[in-house]
Amino acid sequence: MTSEQGVPARVRPGVLAGRTALVTGAASGIGAAIAEAYAAEGARLCLADRSPGPNLDRIVERCSAFGVDVIGAHADVAIEDDVTKLFATAQAELGPIDVLVNNAGILTECRVQDMSAAMFDDMIAVDLRSVFLCSRAALPSMLEHGFGRIINIASQLGQKGGQGLAHYSAAKAGVIGFTRALAREVGANGITANCIAPGPIETPLGGDLSDEWIDTLRAGLPLKRFGQPHEVAPTAVLLASDPGGNLYTGQTLGPNSGDVMP
Ligand SMILES: NC(=O)c1ccc[n+]([C@@H]2O[C@H](COP(=O)([O-])OP(=O)(O)OC[C@H]3O[C@@H](n4cnc5c(N)ncnc54)[C@H](O)[C@@H]3O)[C@@H](O)[C@H]2O)c1
Repeated sequence: MTSEQGVPARVRPGVLAGRTALVTGAASGIGAAIAEAYAAEGARLCLADRSPGPNLDRIVERCSAFGVDVIGAHADVAIEDDVTKLFATAQAELGPIDVLVNNAGILTECRVQDMSAAMFDDMIAVDLRSVFLCSRAALPSMLEHGFGRIINIASQLGQKGGQGLAHYSAAKAGVIGFTRALAREVGANGITANCIAPGPIETPLGGDLSDEWIDTLRAGLPLKRFGQPHEVAPTAVLLASDPGGNLYTGQTLGPNSGDVMP
């Protein structure tokens, strides 16, 4: 690229150039938007999802178009063996993981009195245990290199609670507590750990929620609208970036339409 005078124009290097990031739940919604934003900023990427197929392939293709190395990986991040294999593959193909985005999540709706223990356990496994499993798998290399950014996608419902969503709210509150403890454990080693707690974002995740739930929630939002995945992704870029993200650790950032004002 040249300027009008024929002098090479300055092309801004991406703020994540030279970094390698692993994003879980990257085949859809917020994870896909974060993956694309990271690729645009020059990060090498491992994009993991438990649903491989055309959606994940499409995101891998879109990210690769930015000229960065991208691999797609099939992994259920609630399963310990899958996580072990995922990190082994990612590090063998891309090198050490600098940035981990724990984004994979599920959402079901049920009042506590009607909830089976299996439904509760499944939520905790996917939305909380996975954050522990993936963080633990990422840490040895981050500790060895003295640098790491762990970004956990919680939810504003982990801060305020949601009716019919006690299991989800508990898992997400757990993510926030886990992140604060981890931030204290590894801060001296050059590793930060933060949460993003989005408000309602238009993705397939909320597809099964009742219209009544959705209408009531929207009416109560100061911005009177749900967000889009690409409006969350820049917060994940900030937390991964140097120097922009350097001083955040143990924090919960809230792109949430004003739903929660901590
Ligand atoms: N959409 C919202 O309103 C909203 C609000 C706050 C927080 N969040 C959180 O954001 C994250 C992303 O949600 P989204 O709205 O983009 O949902 P989504 O359903 O669009 O995407 C979630 C992705 O995670 C994958 N996934 C689910 N379980 C998995 C597992 N065990 N292993 C690997 N991959 C798995 C799914 O296959 C899917 O591709 C979730 O953690 C969710 O709780 C979403």
